[in-house]
Amino acid sequence: MGKDVIIACDFNSAEKVFAFLDKFTGRKPFVKIGMELYYAEGPAIVREIKARGHKIFLDLKLHDIPNTVKKSMAVLSGLDVDMTNLHAAGTKRMMEAAIEGLTRPDGTRPMLIAVTQLTSTDQESMENDLLIKEPIADVVLHYANNAKDAGLDGVVCSPLEAGKVHERCGAGFVTVTPGVRFADGDMGDQKRVMTPAAAKEIGSDYIVVGRPITAAEDPVAAYERCVAEFCD
Ligand code: C5P
Repeated sequence: MGKDVIIACDFNSAEKVFAFLDKFTGRKPFVKIGMELYYAEGPAIVREIKARGHKIFLDLKLHDIPNTVKKSMAVLSGLDVDMTNLHAAGTKRMMEAAIEGLTRPDGTRPMLIAVTQLTSTDQESMENDLLIKEPIADVVLHYANNAKDAGLDGVVCSPLEAGKVHERCGAGFVTVTPGVRFADGDMGDQKRVMTPAAAKEIGSDYIVVGRPITAAEDPVAAYERCVAEFCD
């Protein structure tokens, strides 16, 4: 599994994301397009960023009945993204349907990654709002295992959970981890963070880095620093 740094392009317009990506005149980073940018600009933004030579993680976190997810994934697969995702809470049947929809006629498909429990959900809200009484760490691992059983490639998780996910689901099951900060950087609203070097140490396969790169004075230098710490 090739380790890579994915830049979370959390911008609300094509103009802003292109002004940012124009700075990268050398190596073209792997970029994450989330709901904000996708809903602002539609599928054209995916095609345009792809045409510029970037790999794309389309982070739309699908969660619906299996048939709807299958048909939506078929549309997303036509956008030629490299990675996309869904909520494991949609059940194994929904995840299997997603794979069917995502698989192209030639048998290829983008990587499919599951969100387990969002990091904004804590034990208390899971118990009170969702009526799930098990420890959240067990729930995350159970959902990861469901994703593996359904044939998915991996999960989005905190870098702190990546080691346990690999233990439970195998080294080849991919972990994509946000919540990354430089040792000398600002934490922003992320509570449980890790440096790129520590994320590498613990076995993350991809790190998703937003503000430490997008809000840096020199984004290209910040990106190169992430790559040097995480990939090299
Ligand atoms: O700016 P920052 O590095 O905190 O951005 C992290 C990115 O990863 C954001 O796009 C955020 O939505 C996403 N993310 C996260 N925690 C999760 C899942 C996704 O921070 N559990």
